[in-house]
Amino acid sequence: MLNVENLIVSHGPIEAVHGISFAVDKGRCVSLLGPNGAGKTSTISALMGVVKSSGRITFDGADVSSLPVEARVQAGMSVAPEGRRIFSNLSVEENLVLGGATRSDRTAKDADIAHWLETFPILGERRDQPAGTLSGGEQQMLAISRALMTRPKILLLDEPSLGLAPKIVSQIFQMIERLKAQGITILLVEQNATQALRLSDYAYLLNNGRIVAEGTKETLGQSSALMAELTGIA
Ligand SMILES: Nc1ncnc2c1ncn2[C@@H]1O[C@H](COP(=O)(O)OP(=O)(O)O)[C@@H](O)[C@H]1O
Ligand SMILES: [Mg+2]
Repeated sequence: MLNVENLIVSHGPIEAVHGISFAVDKGRCVSLLGPNGAGKTSTISALMGVVKSSGRITFDGADVSSLPVEARVQAGMSVAPEGRRIFSNLSVEENLVLGGATRSDRTAKDADIAHWLETFPILGERRDQPAGTLSGGEQQMLAISRALMTRPKILLLDEPSLGLAPKIVSQIFQMIERLKAQGITILLVEQNATQALRLSDYAYLLNNGRIVAEGTKETLGQSSALMAELTGIA
């Protein structure tokens, strides 16, 4: 579904990602794991076309490398960005409405909003509340639901567990597991290797802008211990 070949991402003179290659098959959950500064967000930003990159990104059979952000969303890519970036002053429901702003199928869009508010009852109970009044975990749920409002073929999650208490982290990973069970293809970017590996079919370990290991949770063995050491999250 998603194929990335020799991706290089630079921020001005600083090269953050030095030519990485990875793939996400349809219906799978694949993790990109790495410590702070590894190049995870740079990679996600390049996939969405928010930052310039070189290399080849093919998605759903088409080369999207040179497409603008809107076209990539149209093609079926969506992201729940690092730090959630919800609209704090808008209600939960309004955030979801904005998530579907690129869609013109009004009735189906309304049905999707109802669907996600029902799927995640905490959001349903708070539908008219300003999103800024939600807890961190609830805001993350909203950010993910908002990303789903475009009906993506692939959902990119940039550190969904960042800054959340362990109990809430478990809830977020349960939510991701439910989405996976619904057949949504997921690229999960995380520092929390242990939790992410649990629900991933395959994982890549990123360090200093390079993939240093890849495999399943069974085959990664020592490498996942290394990752735990690098991130400080056991
Ligand atoms: N906008 C930017 N300008 C300059 N350097 C950046 C910018 N964004 C990220 N970097 C640098 O690129 C590297 C990778 O950062 P990032 O992709 O955010 O890593 P991660 O998401 O894994 O923490 C870091 O060294 C970071 O300082
Ligand atoms: Mg990041």
